[in-house]
Order: sequence, then structure tokens, then C-alpha cells
Amino acid sequence: MKADEIRKRFLDFFVTNGHAAVASSSLVPSDPSVLLTTAGMQQFKPYYTGEVDAVRDFGAKSTASCQKSFRTSDIDEVGDERHLTFFEMLGNFSFGGYEKREAITLAFDFITKEMALPISYVTVFEGSHSTSSGQAVPRDEESAGIWKELGVTDVRYEGMEDVFWGPTGSSGPCGPTTEIYCKSGSGEDTEIWNVVFNQFFYNGSREDLLAGAVGKELKPLAQFGVDTGMGLERLVMVSQGTKTVFETDLFLPLITKLPTGTAERTARIFADHARAIAFLVSDGVRPMNKGAGYVLRRLMRRIIAQGMDGALFAGLTREIFKKYAVVYPELNEVVITGVFNDEYVKFQKTMAQGAKELGRMDAVTPQAAFKLFESYGLPYEAIKEMAPDKTASLTRADFDKEFEKHQAISRAGAEKKFGGHGLILDTGELKAGSEEELKKVTRLHTATHLLQQALRDVLGSEVEQRGSDITVERTRFDFSFARKVTAEELKKVEDIVNARVKEDLPMTFVEMPLVEAKKTGALYYFKEKYPDTVKVYYVGTTLASAYSKEFCGGPHVTHTSALGVFKIIKEEAVSQGIRRIRATVE
Ligand code: ALA
Repeated sequence: MKADEIRKRFLDFFVTNGHAAVASSSLVPSDPSVLLTTAGMQQFKPYYTGEVDAVRDFGAKSTASCQKSFRTSDIDEVGDERHLTFFEMLGNFSFGGYEKREAITLAFDFITKEMALPISYVTVFEGSHSTSSGQAVPRDEESAGIWKELGVTDVRYEGMEDVFWGPTGSSGPCGPTTEIYCKSGSGEDTEIWNVVFNQFFYNGSREDLLAGAVGKELKPLAQFGVDTGMGLERLVMVSQGTKTVFETDLFLPLITKLPTGTAERTARIFADHARAIAFLVSDGVRPMNKGAGYVLRRLMRRIIAQGMDGALFAGLTREIFKKYAVVYPELNEVVITGVFNDEYVKFQKTMAQGAKELGRMDAVTPQAAFKLFESYGLPYEAIKEMAPDKTASLTRADFDKEFEKHQAISRAGAEKKFGGHGLILDTGELKAGSEEELKKVTRLHTATHLLQQALRDVLGSEVEQRGSDITVERTRFDFSFARKVTAEELKKVEDIVNARVKEDLPMTFVEMPLVEAKKTGALYYFKEKYPDTVKVYYVGTTLASAYSKEFCGGPHVTHTSALGVFKIIKEEAVSQGIRRIRATVE
């Protein structure tokens, strides 16, 4: 069975069983505490907590999807037989609908009947007696019993590390899981499906949970949740009886495109990274030195360092497009190859210099490796690939430590440099060196909130904050928008802000739990990590009737008349789909 057929069968099977099929969400999640989408459940997080109603949004209490996913934790492992960065995750989800019995039965039926595959064994949660707050999560006898009734006799108990899912990000739903193992073509048992029972909400990260962090606890969710995840590539491997995912019809067209004699490991890295790059770029990620952009840059530079060029990359992109464009219409061949070629040119220039420098070194210390990265843009992987002998003792952890040290130094440097004097305010967004400057940036800050709302009034809700930087001279506001903003539109925006200033509206805030705050419709900058309690600043007499509402730490003026005359100075592009406005208040 071809991969396309398997993907379709999965979704059809669950639709037949009362699920609403939901499209994959972007690889760049709206959850501010997660870098990239790592699981199908991420787009459904608020449905588990009951914040949002699934029946209203999907017409059903259960959904199914095939989700574009990316796991950075596996980047260094790619090249072996199993690891991938980008993959598709098949999943079915229930929000207060069916529970363990139906979830397990559906999974069993899909694997053994629909796919006609034998199950080798399953795992279930062995129970835990010592979570942080001393709470016990009982051994999952119920799931074990259901599996046995269905005829699966090999049921193995495992612990918190392996069969307790979540949470993703800084908090979220989580709970015990049961996993299904099947045999690949090599005869090895492979975990293919993770069936999670989201019975709890944890107010910390997964690391906190495993470490038993103080002050964090598992609270039972009001409704029972089911969240399942099955890597499409692995299911296809098991179904097609191949030894690795790279021999399935998802990867073979890419592998066969490579020049003969390409080493197996390199071929796998090329195939994996080309797919990942195509999907990341198509979801708007661009090479940068931080965040998701840095992940993309690492992938690109790693393959370039191993011999990937524009022509070969274009050939792979062609195959990726042929294979996936019907399912993922956002894939844009021209943009993908264009972004790759730009990065290629940039990297070629610096790589030659870096190679010279590397040639002069004996053993490469973490400090030296970081210098190569900083001065020549050589990422860790490229340095390792270019000089395997000299970097034998260089580890990713040591390199990352050096990277973090440097970032702390450069932050401190930026603070010192500002105005040549100490800052009395530096929120990252606002900077002021004196009381007088503080007053000015505070006015500009309130103006920035009005600006965002006015832009949305004029240009639509496509406008979302992508960055903001306020100094005593001006506010600089970056936002998502596909084209140049016309002079007339800018004039309208200016007029709206100035009208709000004339009305002399109060600007104030309420503090509330994050979950509640999200329900108010307030805007928030999705790249930000928010604490459990946030301030919602609003312009208007009540929160409900407010003209502008945003998550924000302040400071702001108390009345809009304090702003003075608002003026847009400049509008320009930052990158594709991102515009920048500079504005002042006089
Ligand atoms: N969210 C679970 C996983 O990704 C199903 O494994």
C-alpha cells in the first residue's frame, strides 16, 4: 500500500467512526512556549482543557488529522536507520467524548483489520507513586484488560519516562499512554502508535514533571481526553515491509535522485533535510541565527557542507513537490529553492574563509568552534563534517554552552551601549535611560498598541505583531502582512490612532489567569512565553468594550490624550510577509 493510500485510509477510517477530519496546522505553532510543532495534539490543546468547545468548532467531540511535525531533539541522530526531523503524524483525538475502551479498540481495528498488520506487543503505564506533590497515578489495569480482551496477550508495563505523555511547552494536558509495537522488514519491533489518555493538566514543563519540580502538580482534567500519534513514515515502513523508512515510497524517489556513490548516511541526511527545509520554508521560516530560523539554517548549512548544491536541491524539491503538493498546497517550489539558493551563496562565501581558519587549527575547542560559527557562520554540524579528526572531542553540549555564554554577553553589551549610560528601563521592547526618556517611551508604547489595532481595522486580522522595539526616538513595529501598505491606508491608520487620542480614553489593565485572558480576545505576541497569570492592558472604559486589548507588562500612560500627535514616518518590508512601521508621537 502506497503512503498516500495509507494516509487517506487513516483519515477515512476515523471519519467513518464519527471523527471530524482537521487539516494539519503550521509547523510554526501558535503556542508561544513551543519552537516548532512536535505533535498532532498541539493545535488542540485548548479543547482538552475545555477552554474551547470542539462541537462548536468541528461539529464533533473527536477529530483526526495528519500533522506536519518536527523534532529538533533528533537532528544529530539523522543519518542512522530511523531518525527524522520532519515527519507526518497521524492522530485521532477525543475531547470529553470516548475514553479508553473505544480509543484502544479503534487503534486495534485500524492496525489489525484496516492495515492487516499483526501487533507484536503493547505497553501500558505501570503507575507512579512519587510525582512531585506526592500524587500517585495508578497502574493502568484498565487498558491492559482491554488489550487482553482484544486478544493482545503480550502487554508490558513501563514507567513515567516512556509511557506518560506531555506536557508540551510550559504547561498543558498530559497523562498515561499505551503504545503499539509492530515488526519492520528487518524483523525488529518498532513503536508505531502512541495512544495517550489526557486525564491531567500539569502546570509545568515535561522536565519539571520528570524532575518533580516544587509547586507543580497534576490536576485532573474536568473531561477525559484522548490524543494519539502515529508516525506515518514508520507505519508505511511496517506496511511496506522495508528495513528503514528510507526504502519506503516516501523517500525512495529522493534517494534515487542522488548521484550514484552518495554514502548511505549522507543520502539519508539529504533526503530528511530536504523535506524538512521544504516544509519549514513553506510555513514561513527563513534562515536566521536564532529560533526556528536557526534550525532551518543548521539544516541547510549541514547539507551544503556535505556537497548539496542548487541543482541537486532543486531536483529533490521537484520530487517533494510531486509527492506532497496535493496534500499540502502551501508547498511552493519557487520559494523553497529561492530561499535555499540565497543561503547557499551566503554560506559559500564564509565557508571558504572558515575552511582556511580550520586548516590552521590543531584540535578544535568549543571556543574555537564558536568563533568559527560567529565569524564565518559555520554551524556545529558543518565544523564536525569538515574536520572530523580535529573535532573528535567536540560535543554539541559544549558548543551550545559556548553559544549561550555568548548570547548573555551580547545582551549585556547591548544594554551598556545604549546611550552610553545605564538604562533605567529595559524590557527588551522598551529602552529608556532617564526619567524623561521613560515618559517618552511610555507614550510610544501605548501608541504602539493603538497602532496594532488600527492596522487590523484597516488591513484586517492578517496583521499580527512580529516584533516591537521602542526607543526615545520612535516605535518600530513589525507585523505580518503580505504586501506594501499604501499611503492612503497609512493615513487612515494614523487618523484612527489620533481619533482615539482625542477621545482621551483610559488605558488600564486587569490581571488574570492566562487561560481566562486568552478568552477575552486580547491580542498577544505568539512568540512570547507567558506566565500563568498575565496582565491585559486595554484602551477604553471596560475590558468588554475596549478598543484595544493586549497581553502586556506595561508601562503605559493612563489616558490616551497624553500621547500627543501620532505620526507614521516610514513603512517598509522586513522579509517576505513581514512589514515594518516606524512612528513617533509629538
Ligand atoms: N501526542 C502523542 C505523541 O506525539 C500522541 O506521541
